[in-house]
Amino acid sequence: MEELIERAARDLVNSKYAIALTGAGMSTESGIPDFRGPSGIWTKDPEAERRAYQTYHKFLANPREYWEERLGSPSLLGDLEKVKPNPGHYALAELEKTGILKWVITQNIDNLHQRAESKNVLDYHGNAFKLRCADCNARFDSEEYDLQRLREEGKLPPRCKQCGGVIKADVVHFREPIPGDVTHQSLEEAWKCDLMVICGTSAVVYPFADLPRVARQRKTETERKTETGIYAVEKIPAVTIIELNAEPTPLTEEGISDYLIQGKTGEILPRIVEAVKRIRE
Ligand code: APR
Repeated sequence: MEELIERAARDLVNSKYAIALTGAGMSTESGIPDFRGPSGIWTKDPEAERRAYQTYHKFLANPREYWEERLGSPSLLGDLEKVKPNPGHYALAELEKTGILKWVITQNIDNLHQRAESKNVLDYHGNAFKLRCADCNARFDSEEYDLQRLREEGKLPPRCKQCGGVIKADVVHFREPIPGDVTHQSLEEAWKCDLMVICGTSAVVYPFADLPRVARQRKTETERKTETGIYAVEKIPAVTIIELNAEPTPLTEEGISDYLIQGKTGEILPRIVEAVKRIRE
């Protein structure tokens, strides 16, 4: 483990454009269950997962009923107001402050990267504390709408303050398209980076799981001296991909990632940051 942590720190220090991809495993040490781990929400309640696949179509069919249900039932992730970032979140925020980490692209809706003061965060599956217009894609902080009062006054669904369109939760439900601005920028970052550290995701949900494969496709040219002494141009992978996860994923098995550091992100990431600081001294 120590060797891999040193290797990851050196790769980060030598990188020119590093980004992080994160999933639910990042937040389990903050008390939020993941989905497909041994005690994951879907692992323990497959029926809940089946219901989650209906949510978006319910919104399209009857947005008022969608909101009635949403305001009437507790979140599967528990009370996200009460949870706090863990050392893993703070370590990524620190890597950003050092100038090494450029962006965090997260599948998590829990806003914990932002609360750990990461500045450049892309909420790939939306944010639980925001609302989004289904027509013009404008986003609002949830507090900008008094949803309970709208419910009492029979004025659901909420309407967009910019275009009058129907407002939905910002979170992206299964079978809902990822908002275009997020898709565009995520692909740009995946294509631009020369180091990608992937933290706490089973990497089975698409299109997010495409991002490491996009990065892996990027090659760079290098000259290599052949036996005959002439120089040949060779295409080599342009990106180093590191996985931090409690268990191997399809990225590990398919060789998309260069190496896996198996363990808890809240324990490994702070040790990597310490090693980065030592190397930079
Ligand atoms: N440190 C490292 N890895 C962890 C930790 C931890 N503390 N806790 C759990 N893990 C690992 C699990 O073993 C699992 O491999 O993190 C992974 C979490 O995977 P999922 O539960 O599938 O979560 P994620 O990949 O984020 O799911 C993607 O699916 O359900 C939808 O929209 C939801 O954004 C979510 C998406």
